[in-house]
Amino acid sequence: MTPEHASELAAKVCLLAPVVPVLVVDDAALAGPLAQALVDGGLPALEVTLRTPAALDVIREMAKIDGGVVGAGTLLTEKDVEAAKEAGATFGVSPGATDRLLDACEANDLPLLPGAATATEAMRLLERGYTTQKFFPAEASGGAPALKGIGAPIPQVKFCPTGGVSLSNARDYLSLGNTLCVGGSWVAPKDLVAAGDWAGITALAKEAAALPR
Ligand code: 3PG
Repeated sequence: MTPEHASELAAKVCLLAPVVPVLVVDDAALAGPLAQALVDGGLPALEVTLRTPAALDVIREMAKIDGGVVGAGTLLTEKDVEAAKEAGATFGVSPGATDRLLDACEANDLPLLPGAATATEAMRLLERGYTTQKFFPAEASGGAPALKGIGAPIPQVKFCPTGGVSLSNARDYLSLGNTLCVGGSWVAPKDLVAAGDWAGITALAKEAAALPR
């Protein structure tokens, strides 16, 4: 898959809803109900981070939920890409970008949302053909003013800012011309997931899905 095609597909995922939940799930038994709760609340695109031993099984379970679009986050290596693809992830997300990781995603036909935190990183990805990128870590990198600053000279790159984004600052990003959606973990807090409070998570998802952009 070419970087251009990958970016086109990644942009489509980003446009499904204003927020992509970033999920860290320890128990695959919780995956189905969690995905259903988020989809029911209006957030179909789900990023499952490969940060727990259960993550690949979580992707497998979530991929069965109608209306969900499940991706793998925290892709760092070629092995991660292959495992994510095999588990049924339909897109990938990475905190940064290396040539080996980009090569692996292109070779495995996994559309990637690659991370960039500076103008130079965004330019390097743009040179390779990636016009849809993740701005990470968004708040620590200067937040919405920094992303606005990058957008002035590089308007052709559109972003999904992630990292420190919450209901209180999401609007600052979503009002920018170069932001397609935001990513965040606040819609699936660990305590609600552990308690199986699916109604509570659907309520948070509905609130996030109603954010203007
Ligand atoms: C992450 O790396 O975990 C994501 O960027 C989500 O960050 P958040 O927990 O600050 O939303």
